[in-house]
Amino acid sequence: MAKKKEKYSPMMTKYLELKKDYQDSIVFYRLGDFYEMFFDDAIVASKALNIALTGKNAGVSERVPMCGVPFHSAQGYIEDLVKMGHKVVIVEQLTDPKASKGLVERGVVQIVTPGTIMDLKLNEKVNHFIGALGIFDFHYTLAYADISTGEFYCLNLEKDDRKLKNQIETLDLKELVMNQDGYEDDSLMISHYDNEHIQDKYKKLFEGVSDLKEIKVASNLLNYMLETQKRDLDYIQPLTEVDQQNYVVLDASTKKALELTKNSNQEKYGTLLWLLDHTHSAMGGRMLKSWIDHPLLNKDAIEERLDMVEIFVDNLIERETIKDMINEIYDIEKLASRIAFGNVNARDLKWIASSLQVIPELKHQLLSLENEKLNKLAEQLLDLTPITELIESAIVDNPPLVIKEGNIIKEGYSAELDEYRDAKKNGQNWLREFEEKEKQRTGIQKLKIGYNRVFGYYIEVTKSQLNLVKDEFNYTRKQSLTNAERFITPELKEMEDKILSAQDRIVSLEYEIFSQIRQYIKQYVHMIQDVAKVVAKVDVYISLAIVASSNRYVRPTFNDEHRLHIVEGKHPIVEEVISSKNYIANDVDLDEKNRIMMITGPNMGGKSTYMRQVTLTVLMAQMGSFVPAREADLPIFDQIFTRIGASDDLVSGQSTFMVEMLEANNALRYATEDSLIIFDEIGRGTATFDGMALAQGIVEYIAKKTKALTLFSTHYHELTLMNKDLGIKNVHASADVSNDSIKFLYKIKEGATGQSYGINVAKLAKLPDEVIARAKVILDSLQDNNMETKLEASSNTVIVEKESAAEKMLSQIDPMQLSPIDALSTLIELKKLL
Ligand SMILES: Nc1ncnc2c1ncn2[C@@H]1O[C@H](COP(=O)(O)OP(=O)(O)OP(=O)(O)O)[C@@H](O)[C@H]1O
Ligand SMILES: [Mg+2]
Repeated sequence: MAKKKEKYSPMMTKYLELKKDYQDSIVFYRLGDFYEMFFDDAIVASKALNIALTGKNAGVSERVPMCGVPFHSAQGYIEDLVKMGHKVVIVEQLTDPKASKGLVERGVVQIVTPGTIMDLKLNEKVNHFIGALGIFDFHYTLAYADISTGEFYCLNLEKDDRKLKNQIETLDLKELVMNQDGYEDDSLMISHYDNEHIQDKYKKLFEGVSDLKEIKVASNLLNYMLETQKRDLDYIQPLTEVDQQNYVVLDASTKKALELTKNSNQEKYGTLLWLLDHTHSAMGGRMLKSWIDHPLLNKDAIEERLDMVEIFVDNLIERETIKDMINEIYDIEKLASRIAFGNVNARDLKWIASSLQVIPELKHQLLSLENEKLNKLAEQLLDLTPITELIESAIVDNPPLVIKEGNIIKEGYSAELDEYRDAKKNGQNWLREFEEKEKQRTGIQKLKIGYNRVFGYYIEVTKSQLNLVKDEFNYTRKQSLTNAERFITPELKEMEDKILSAQDRIVSLEYEIFSQIRQYIKQYVHMIQDVAKVVAKVDVYISLAIVASSNRYVRPTFNDEHRLHIVEGKHPIVEEVISSKNYIANDVDLDEKNRIMMITGPNMGGKSTYMRQVTLTVLMAQMGSFVPAREADLPIFDQIFTRIGASDDLVSGQSTFMVEMLEANNALRYATEDSLIIFDEIGRGTATFDGMALAQGIVEYIAKKTKALTLFSTHYHELTLMNKDLGIKNVHASADVSNDSIKFLYKIKEGATGQSYGINVAKLAKLPDEVIARAKVILDSLQDNNMETKLEASSNTVIVEKESAAEKMLSQIDPMQLSPIDALSTLIELKKLL
């Protein structure tokens, strides 16, 4: 006889049916007070979360692997799993287990993914974007949104994986939605999803955008968010096109090398963001970061920001007042999203109220500064006092975080609620009187009225007085304890009904009222978001003004003549760290005649610092900030390329030198005469002659073809002998050297320097005396061999340009030997060679 096929229990059958659709996710299956995971999910999750793996009887002979987490503490576990790169599917009980006969109905209520995790922390100054990628014939389209703030953007990118990767890193995407293959990236989760149909209610989000491809990719992203969150996302803001043309192109190496928003440890400390961030709201913090990531190209837009910053530099008292006001404003952008998302609690509402309360005053203050542009901005601060008033009149002062257990709504807000509360209070009084009455009636002095969840209200009599209980009291025995007996009477039960039903009504009514308030405020979510944007801007202007004032920065001016002129410039971060008085300020002067600055000088002399300081100054100016200098007149740069320091790219399997060459190539290929190039010791990663030859080739190429303003540091002193006609200007980091000791002056001076003093610096680093002494001997012998002169000679010959193909052909032609027809066809050939 065939063995009977084993069948799973009805519950497990249902589970397996559901799990089929979510193979790539971990399913949190709600059973009573727990979320349970089964089979492989349980094995993976128990390991990842460090919780016990057990088994469950599921109708078959072997127990099914299982683990579980209590539902009230599930959030942390879910976040952990998602951070580790899993998707978590949350399955809830859709019907009340008490009310339903048979199996409780269950369904997926949300899928939490790395890109859609609703970040619970408020007041965070970073965005959590999820992206969607569209791959087209000639370009990439990237859409991205922050589900906790509702921001929604799209942009087109050149079809270049490096640039795409650069964008993904800038946005710090954790998840990328794609409807086709064609891009791979191990650093984030790729989610395949394809639905570009826009539901009617979301059509208005796309109204401002005309690019159909952008709309397609963005709608796929929106649909993915709707699909995973399984609720309306009314708070998503209209899609904004990010026009790359408006922003300076910063390649990934520039961002890394300059430590704009993250240092080499991926932290904020020591970055430009760290220096400039004196924002007092999370919205402002996020906006500042985005400004640093996207310096502007449009002069008017830059000047407008600078105008605003200047107002706050000039008006210290108003700045302080406004700053204090902004300090009172919570992260209303995220709070507004929570209202619409459905995870807002009563305390959040209180925060919204106290934040919005500040807005009219803030507006008043801004208007008092009487500046036309600032007034226009201030006018966008809508008065949302009705919301504040509603919340203040309805919600108690220190509400609990849970919204379904009452104690949220103020007395006097709802007559109906107050009635039930009275009934409950009267009930309590009645109980007290009842207890007194029963003591009198029965003469049992230790009689007590108590309550528990199972039996409700009861009369408790201790064992010692039990003999006093008489039949005529009409007591019914309910429960026996070791030292007491519990009784009920019809009268007590009648009152219990009243009290308990009042309590139930109170709790459900409070939740109902809370939901109504939430629903009411939901209509205003977009207005709150608009207010948040204005607050963010003002916050950023003030932040920049604070830094500008306390560090005595200057407002930069801009010219169209490729003139880079900085007087007493400083490196803003080094200055901050070593203190201003210890920092040696330096000038910069480059223009159309002198486009390239060749910087030499000893190790540790300050070359890299000088080059970084120029770049940071340029970036700060173009984001609308004052700059660390006494005077700064700058071109507006279209792109900035830097190659600073050694950065290995072990992950992609490229060596230091290869990365260096790739980055140099990037600059040479894409830079224009409006770009800025910073090359710090290019070519040093290979043999001296190779390196020097490459460096010289690169400089010549820039001088003749690219024509970008360039700062080039090198230890190849021979490069300073290059042809002066190329517009190369030599400067050097000065130092005092006497005998064996070296003192760095950090002053950048005109002209080249002849030596590197590498051995002196090695001595400072306390290398063994033996090594130093030996190095000196070797150096002397190298110099005796006149290495330098040889290098010099070669450096001069490299500059001679090779004859062109046309010249070569021309030199081989004897005109007297050509027929008129041949002459004509040769001329045509020659022309082709040009
Ligand atoms: N203008 C300055 N004022 C004061 N201190 C400075 C200044 N410039 C640089 N320094 C200090 O000198 C240190 C070394 O500077 P930097 O790294 O720029 O030298 P370098 O010339 O690039 O050296 P190397 O050739 O070894 O790369 C910096 O870390 C900084 O502390
Ligand atoms: Mg250096």
